[in-house]
Amino acid sequence: MAISPPGRIIWWNEPVERTELIWIVIAFLWGLFMFGFMIAWHFVGGQNLNKEAYRVTPSGYEEKVEQFAAKYKVREEKGIPVVKPGAGAEVYLLGRVWQWWPILELEKGRSYRIHISSADLQHGFSLQPVNINIQVHPGYEHVITLTPTEAGEFGIVCNEFCGLGHHTMTGKIYVTDQKKAGGENRFAGGDRP
Ligand code: CUA
Repeated sequence: MAISPPGRIIWWNEPVERTELIWIVIAFLWGLFMFGFMIAWHFVGGQNLNKEAYRVTPSGYEEKVEQFAAKYKVREEKGIPVVKPGAGAEVYLLGRVWQWWPILELEKGRSYRIHISSADLQHGFSLQPVNINIQVHPGYEHVITLTPTEAGEFGIVCNEFCGLGHHTMTGKIYVTDQKKAGGENRFAGGDRP
């Protein structure tokens, strides 16, 4: 308890109150536990993916993405190409102010090497609703290996503040299930505008 007048307090000599000490210990142990879980999440939950990272130039990467999109484009949605990579193809995704480009169409059960980088600022790749999060830096190309386990429409949001349009920075990944009757489902069929 601090009973000395403020002018004469030597704070590091003041005894620590018992309850305060207990909370300091609890907070410290919790911090250690959370630190440990940064590593544990690689093994449980499947959210922290192992990834490779390479140096690239932003313009060089942009070019690669454009070539990839031109090669595998199947249609367009509001001016953004929907790209369906062929078997064994490397998949490229670009983050830039303020969009994830292009829209990807993947197949359930197939494994893909997905390259992600930024053309300008730091962005945050956040795949919803599965909650996979990756920091995206210009100048670095991240490669993750991903196997979609569910068909459907997945949203990408940016979760790193990147300026005025940050909240509008979204993207999309379609996952189609080729094993379903006739290979048709709501993403592969003709029911899209
Ligand atoms: Cu990109 Cu926020």
